[in-house]
Amino acid sequence: MLSCDTLIRNAQVLDGSGAAPQLADVALCGDRICAIAPSLECRAGETVDAAGLALAPGFIDAHTHDDIAVLQNPAMLPKLSQGVTTVIVGNCGISASPVTLRGEPPDPMNLLGSAEVFRYPTFSAYIHAIQSAQPAVNVGALIGHTALRNNQMDRLDRAATASEVAAMRRQLKQALEGGALGLSTGLAYLSAIAANTEEVVALAQPLASAGAVYATHIRSESETILDAMREAFEIGQLNHTPVIVSHLKCAGIANWGRGSEVLQSLEMARQSQSAGCDCYPYAAGSSTLDLRQVDERVRITITWSAPHPEIAGQSLAEIAAAWNLNQLDAAQRLRPAGAIYYSIAEDDMRRILSHPATMIGSDGLPNDPRPHPRLWGTFPRVLGYYSRDQKLFSLAEAVRKMTGMPAQRFGLAERGLVRQGYAADLVLFNPDTILDTATFTHPVCPAQGIAAVWVNGVLSYTSQGATKKRAGRFLPRGNTAWVQ
Ligand code: ZN
Ligand code: CU
Repeated sequence: MLSCDTLIRNAQVLDGSGAAPQLADVALCGDRICAIAPSLECRAGETVDAAGLALAPGFIDAHTHDDIAVLQNPAMLPKLSQGVTTVIVGNCGISASPVTLRGEPPDPMNLLGSAEVFRYPTFSAYIHAIQSAQPAVNVGALIGHTALRNNQMDRLDRAATASEVAAMRRQLKQALEGGALGLSTGLAYLSAIAANTEEVVALAQPLASAGAVYATHIRSESETILDAMREAFEIGQLNHTPVIVSHLKCAGIANWGRGSEVLQSLEMARQSQSAGCDCYPYAAGSSTLDLRQVDERVRITITWSAPHPEIAGQSLAEIAAAWNLNQLDAAQRLRPAGAIYYSIAEDDMRRILSHPATMIGSDGLPNDPRPHPRLWGTFPRVLGYYSRDQKLFSLAEAVRKMTGMPAQRFGLAERGLVRQGYAADLVLFNPDTILDTATFTHPVCPAQGIAAVWVNGVLSYTSQGATKKRAGRFLPRGNTAWVQ
């Protein structure tokens, strides 16, 4: 008789490809899935009765800012408790490496922490840090354009010169050789908005031969969003590189209802190039406090403030009233600060979330004392609320958006599917009860309905909580074969 370490019996297997669920037994040997069949006989170290439960590939959080969290809080509970087994760090132009600071990190690099957390002048130093911290989840990493700019430029309010771009490109190339997944930009932020298209086109040039991706927080998510999308696709097209539009949304009241227009622009691009997006399942965004987004008609809550830490959790309107100021002046006084903006229309978000080219990415901010609930709730919310309750898409499709699709797009070899020989990153959950419990008022709250999570074959989380066994790894870029 076959022997295996773990035998999971009678699970409804959602394999990550989008195919309908199949009842099966799944056997794990070491860090791999070694057999899948309607009925398996094997001498197992441990047998799990999964009757009534769904088994899926571990979720891949396509958009995170967990660069430092995986090192400082390697238990990674906000993610592991949702069934996430891999996080993609380095988004929005912000990465923990390669970084050499002079003074404090510029906004929005400060989302990752203050100067003392930036200790990785090279990508290989960051990989070593991951290996020694041994986080509970796997880590794939993008390299941030803003981080590179800050390494090579004396000021960020201008475009880089040719020699500065060349120096940035050398750092990017070195990181790609070390297994980075691609380049990210945050062109909407003041630290990168002065970079012109040519700067990014020139920097992105090594991506194609590496088989890496270009992920972008586009230059505008409001009035000029279509121009910003065109710019993103142009950068991809000129470099023969797949484009991932980060947290696609229509932000600001003036842009509500433009979801289909924006998706049409994505679909157009997809006829001639590899392109997709990620999205979080909430009608509110969160980042550093941006004066350009202060609008008295939009509710804004402050998540942190360096000069006024006591104010976290209050609304900007309340603070402004108490200080006898208008919201813009109050915001000015709060900075550097973080905010949640209720500036997205639910309908637009649903439309974008449902699109077949959309992956799930939490964009959670683990360093915020009162984080947006997407940090703890994104994946169960998509599965329980948007798929099961609201019937936006099937459960199999929801799982594909968080497993097979991101694995294939980022080139994570032998991950993202329940297949023989693939990594044993798996999540067992109750499809009838899975749900997010984190809310805007109580944002730190583990989801319900997660029965077990295996990372590289190691049981890392159960309904009783974390097992304290951490088996995450750094995941270098494998072969990408982008399938639209
Ligand atoms: Zn972003
Ligand atoms: Cu982000």
